[in-house]
Amino acid sequence: MTVRRSVVCGVGAYLPERVLANEELAQMVDTSDAWITERTGIRQRHIAAEGEYTSDLATAAARAALAYAGALPADVDLVILATATPDDTFPSTGTIVQSKLGMTNGVAFDIHAVCSGFVFALATADNFIRAGQARCALVIGAETFSRILDWQDRTTCVLFGDGAGAVVLRAGEGDGTIADRGVLTTHLHSDGKFHDMLYVDGGPSTTKTVGHLRMQGREVFRHGVEKMAAATEEALAATGLAVLDIDWFVPHQANRRIIDGMARKLGIDTNKVVVTIERHANTSAASIPLALETAVHDQRIKTGDLVLVEAMGGGFTWGSGLVRW
Ligand code: ACO
Repeated sequence: MTVRRSVVCGVGAYLPERVLANEELAQMVDTSDAWITERTGIRQRHIAAEGEYTSDLATAAARAALAYAGALPADVDLVILATATPDDTFPSTGTIVQSKLGMTNGVAFDIHAVCSGFVFALATADNFIRAGQARCALVIGAETFSRILDWQDRTTCVLFGDGAGAVVLRAGEGDGTIADRGVLTTHLHSDGKFHDMLYVDGGPSTTKTVGHLRMQGREVFRHGVEKMAAATEEALAATGLAVLDIDWFVPHQANRRIIDGMARKLGIDTNKVVVTIERHANTSAASIPLALETAVHDQRIKTGDLVLVEAMGGGFTWGSGLVRW
């Protein structure tokens, strides 16, 4: 049986030039490099420059992914941008990226699932491609979380950074087995009752301001381990695969201890887990594509490898996707 598959044929990333190391942050709030490194694994984060917007980061990552894929903006008929930090309330940042890329056709829109955004965007693009409604999709995760942080709150401002990553998906064909290249399975979840554990205390309809990120760190930590592990198990069950069959685990980079906790819970060999948190911090929807790009660039992830992505974020939202690269 021939089936349509969404095959990854390009990956790209962009990080703003400015690096903010823990030591410098310790001069701004009452914290220390030792505390941040020990509790989170983070050593530094990138911060977007004045006048550098989410759409700029996203466009740079998209251009790199297109170049990698040998594709032109005109080949793309779907742009899905995952972000919780859009340039403006509207129009969607996806359409701004579409314009910056010089595209005059296709469709572009944003997906808002906070730190799970890239997994949600990947699943949506895969469904468009498998339904025959798109042939070449740009799936981007891009954030400027530095703009929604309370820089006086040491419990949150040390955790996040800015950045963008992108993949190009092209319609391909497979025989419907897990030997196919492409997205093999995706699983998405949300449960709005967890709103108060991780949210932004502002918005156009409530306060008419952008607001700041607020979080109950310990609760988020506990749910992060549980939900990313559950989403990973779901993808394995759906494909009849075991932890040992997976070549690379690329989790959302929230906290090194959340990643280690999940790996321990599932018996995953930590050498198979891609971790970039020490250099990028938590870049929300951008963290998975940034980690994918890192591991493709350093030749860990190769064509034919089985790559499992999993995330959890505000909402709560959580999910997973299994891709044969
Ligand atoms: N520097 C120094 N001390 C700090 C800092 C800081 N940056 N932040 C908090 N503290 C203090 C607290 O005030 C507290 O002091 P007290 O004992 O005198 O009251 C002490 O450190 C311990 O605080 P806890 O909150 O209990 O510390 P914990 O070990 O839980 O670590 C952390 C906090 C790192 C936020 C952890 O809970 C965590 O990682 N949670 C997950 C949050 C996360 O990853 N969010 C990302 C967004 S969600 C997502 O992406 C899935």
